[in-house]
Amino acid sequence: LVYAYFRGKGNMTDGLSHLLTEVSQGYFQPDVGGKNIPVSQGELSDLAGDEPLFKALYGWFMQYGGVYKLAFGPKAFIVISDPVVVRHIMKDNAFNYDKGVLAEILEPIMGKGLIPADLETWKVRRRAVVPAFHRQYYDAMVEMFGRCTERSVAHLDWEITAGKGKATVDMEQEFLSLGLDIIGLGVFNFDFGSINKQSPVIKAVYGVLKEAEHRSTFYLPYWNLPLADVLVPRQRAFRADLAVINQCLDDLIRRAKDTRVEEDPEVLQNRDYSKLKDPSLLRFLVDMRGEDVTNKQLRDDLMTMLIAGHETTAAVLTWTLFALVQAPEAEARVLEEIDRVVGDRTPTLDDLKAMPYLRACLGESLRLYPQPPILIRRALGEDVLPGGLKGDPNGYPIGKGADLFISVWNLHRSPYLWKDPDVFRPERFFEANSNPDFGGQWAGYRPDAVTGGQALYPNEVASDFAFIPFGGGPRKCVGDQFAMFEATVAAAMLLRRFSFKLAVPVEKVGMATGATIHTANGLPMTVTRRVPPGGSPAPQQEAKVPAAV
Ligand code: HEM
Repeated sequence: LVYAYFRGKGNMTDGLSHLLTEVSQGYFQPDVGGKNIPVSQGELSDLAGDEPLFKALYGWFMQYGGVYKLAFGPKAFIVISDPVVVRHIMKDNAFNYDKGVLAEILEPIMGKGLIPADLETWKVRRRAVVPAFHRQYYDAMVEMFGRCTERSVAHLDWEITAGKGKATVDMEQEFLSLGLDIIGLGVFNFDFGSINKQSPVIKAVYGVLKEAEHRSTFYLPYWNLPLADVLVPRQRAFRADLAVINQCLDDLIRRAKDTRVEEDPEVLQNRDYSKLKDPSLLRFLVDMRGEDVTNKQLRDDLMTMLIAGHETTAAVLTWTLFALVQAPEAEARVLEEIDRVVGDRTPTLDDLKAMPYLRACLGESLRLYPQPPILIRRALGEDVLPGGLKGDPNGYPIGKGADLFISVWNLHRSPYLWKDPDVFRPERFFEANSNPDFGGQWAGYRPDAVTGGQALYPNEVASDFAFIPFGGGPRKCVGDQFAMFEATVAAAMLLRRFSFKLAVPVEKVGMATGATIHTANGLPMTVTRRVPPGGSPAPQQEAKVPAAV
């Protein structure tokens, strides 16, 4: 198919640029503006090697600075690794940017869901979705996170019993299953039950996620070619997987609409969620003026949250565990905190507030392994990017259509912003940190901005855009609290009950990327039951495969 396409277009170079322009409708845009931006000598071919893209971008950041351009032929994108420039793009002039390349990649999967949505649609849907994450919802969710984590506890217990006292378990897979069960219940009250079983819907969700990953790392969008979804086997499979999920979501939406009860937002927010059989986001979205919204839009919203909230949260748990088992002092400190605050209870929202060190560990894992490691923007109109901390003080004028990559990886590991940037050291979030060389352009890291109920976890405000695990400004993640509460509950319950040791040498774990950073080969851990110091062993589950919650 590709051969035939190129043949029709003359030589190879023409074919490539054709794919990059017309077929992809601008997968990357022509080089517009930014004439004074340093140009990296990197090649497009450098990006297709074994090394993940974000690592190559780090090397060039060290060479060319916080704003540089990667050019290939007539195309280019600008790589940003400077907090002042990031603050400008995400907050100060946020509405001059959309998701560009990313929206093109995700549109076939998420439609007009919040992540790829155009500005018009985004404004309406953001206003509808944000109120659904309210205090009573979180209370109900934290309880559900505990119930779901009990399944993982029972599963690990079963494996340990079967292994006569210890078991080797791929903890990345365990966290993915747990994350899928939780997001299904939290977003549309659907129990995937993936810790205990496989099903066609689960298979389809993983298939779609894999395709999203393939598309975001493959530089030629051949799937836009005519008949690609008929002739290319993986594209055929993708279409079939999408149909399975859409069918499932459509059924859930129809059922929610058939049982619609209220429409007053205030009444909804004051509902007693502890008595609701279905406290999901879908229930809220349908009950709150749900008749105005089309089934297609609801489906796009749900699909977006399913994909945005599943692998990302699982990755936080994976990398936190990976880092903790290699940092004995941090591990001991976090275990002491969990034993003291929660013990064998299922954690409540108040318990999460009382465990600052565990929260810092999760934040530190997101600093070292940001999900996703790169954020994408395209300029909707002309702009002048600020010079930032070390760039041109006159700034960088850019044109409409400029493609920008915000390298979260570079920001989070910048030696200009962080002490020992590559070391896992959760304590850093309790220390003020700034750099007087930057003439007040960057406020530094301020731990006092993380206290109180508003911001329990380190965030972009406390770090003045040096730490942006959930983005920032108007397009900031809507599920940040959901994700962090989930990770805190799961980590507290599993670390309290089990001891973990890497079952393979550290370097075997590796890193691979798509939308998120995951391990190259899974996270095999030797798991045993833990007896807390001076305490009684955690209650043992029955030695059988656990039933669904
Ligand atoms: C947006 C990260 C969990 C739903 C984002 C963005 C980031 C992010 C960085 C901003 C993207 C950009 O500016 O281009 C994460 C991480 C998570 C997580 C690291 C887990 C640790 C969740 C969950 C949900 C969710 C659990 C849903 C329940 C969304 C949505 C957006 C978004 C809908 C788009 C917001 C908008 O454009 O208005 N997420 N997310 N995320 N996230 Fe998350």
